[in-house]
Amino acid sequence: MGIIDKVFEYFKRREKAIPPKDSKAVEKQIQMGKMYARDRIKYLLDADSFQETDLFVEHSEKNFGLDKKFLPADGVITGTGTIYGYPVAIFAQDFTVAGGSLGLMHARKITKIMDLAINNGIPLIGINDSGGARIQEGVNSLAGYGEIFYRNTLASGVIPQISVILGPCAGGAVYSPALTDFVFVVDKISKMFITGPEVIKTVLGEEISMEDLGGARVQTEISGNAHFFAKSEIECFEQVKRLVSFIPWNNTRKAAAFPPKPPKIHLDIEKIIPAEPSKPYDIRDVIKAVCDDSDFLEVQENWASNAVVGFARINGDTIGVVGNQPLVLAGVLDVDSSDKIARFIRYCDAFSIPLVTFVDLPGYLPGIDQEHAGVIRHGAKILYAYSEASVPKLTVILRKAYGGGYIAMCSRHLGADFVFAWPTAEIAVMGPEGAANIIFRQEIMESADPEITRKQKVIEYTEKFANPYVAAKNGHIDAVINPAETRKSLIHSLKLCAGKRDNRPSRKHGIPPF
Ligand code: HXC
Repeated sequence: MGIIDKVFEYFKRREKAIPPKDSKAVEKQIQMGKMYARDRIKYLLDADSFQETDLFVEHSEKNFGLDKKFLPADGVITGTGTIYGYPVAIFAQDFTVAGGSLGLMHARKITKIMDLAINNGIPLIGINDSGGARIQEGVNSLAGYGEIFYRNTLASGVIPQISVILGPCAGGAVYSPALTDFVFVVDKISKMFITGPEVIKTVLGEEISMEDLGGARVQTEISGNAHFFAKSEIECFEQVKRLVSFIPWNNTRKAAAFPPKPPKIHLDIEKIIPAEPSKPYDIRDVIKAVCDDSDFLEVQENWASNAVVGFARINGDTIGVVGNQPLVLAGVLDVDSSDKIARFIRYCDAFSIPLVTFVDLPGYLPGIDQEHAGVIRHGAKILYAYSEASVPKLTVILRKAYGGGYIAMCSRHLGADFVFAWPTAEIAVMGPEGAANIIFRQEIMESADPEITRKQKVIEYTEKFANPYVAAKNGHIDAVINPAETRKSLIHSLKLCAGKRDNRPSRKHGIPPF
């Protein structure tokens, strides 16, 4: 065969391995409101940056008629490219080929690109759109999943792993995204569940749609399995790109520094924090008034919203922000918000992203439901995660910091490097009402007018303890600051902590209250 013929053959093989855009399967995909897998990659990566790998891989299954079936690229497109110049490894399951089902070679293509990402320290992005284990390939498909899960675990805390769910992600297949760092879902398109509607109907006799079982809203508002919700695939890809700009390539590098920018919002404490201590306000107003360009990328925005976590920059450098949200349940900690915060802390710690914590909470949520749901075990995750984190840890106490909540929200006692308190801070065992009722019970009961005495005792307790000065007197906080100086204090402290050393006793690993 001459050179021209060889090149011609190459193009013919490529054509076979890349189904044309006007094929029936691709048209069906588009009719379903979904983008074609190759277009997804094209959209997500920098123009012309995609370099495909393993295009010519084929399955070798002979059963159930698969020996006569050619599956282009074996239903998954793999390769590397860049996002804003950052190198990334990527795979995208192609639902137009056997429903994107995962057979052994499909899995091997994925594990190969995962190995490449791990060995070269670059983020891995997986676009999932699949009917799950390729039924005809039986146990070989299951083996493939196992090999992916194993690598997800090896890669955890080494490279960022991002899952984008753009179609069904069913059965055990959901466990790969669940092992990754961030899961993105799109309204009406993403469906994640372990057992589908058919099984539920057979086993439980209950009817439920795929959307109600595991659609994008369910996963971002109820289960907390997903971290980012988008209305369209395009919006989703923009979110992925934004996230990539905040995080480092791997655990040995720092996130890229950006030119520092002042916040767009002025921190006017009188406008943000209501005079009445029980009135709520939006903690995101404080975060945006402190961070560069008021640019805050919130993670898990619609789940466990009594806590706020996300990425921002201060003086050009990425920080991980954790805050209580007084707007929701007064910002209390509960089972879900504890999980949310603890996981985010561990991400930031693994990837050398300093943590800044904004505190305003009345403590842990009381109640039988919470106790029975294991608030002790879940709440302990925050204590563990903050204590374990060795990145710079800065805390700003804005208003309430009561009881266990005070300790848990990155107090000095859990290793915070700097704890600042605003003059409005109330650092105490509990709120003045509850405290006065307990410690002055006898006096209140025996007084001529218990109601007036109770009020007086609340004022007395408030004046004595509901302020930052008892903590300041004992050195539990480092400084009471003028709120207007918050950003300046954080910039100063982050600079100071840049070379932080944190020596711990050696161990294989700890045993967090998972
Ligand atoms: C082989 C599959 C497949 C699968 C879909 N297809 N899923 N082929 N193995 N798992 C094929 C279909 O036969 C069809 O082929 C094409 O993909 C498109 O599928 P449709 O059913 O026409 O699409 P749609 O109506 O959109 O429905 C999508 C779906 C449905 C909801 C995902 O296909 C479905 O329920 N599939 C089976 C899901 C499942 O039970 N998977 C196994 C889960 S167990 P043709 O040739 O007709 O175009 C599992 C275990 C993993 O994953 C364990 C890991 C530990």
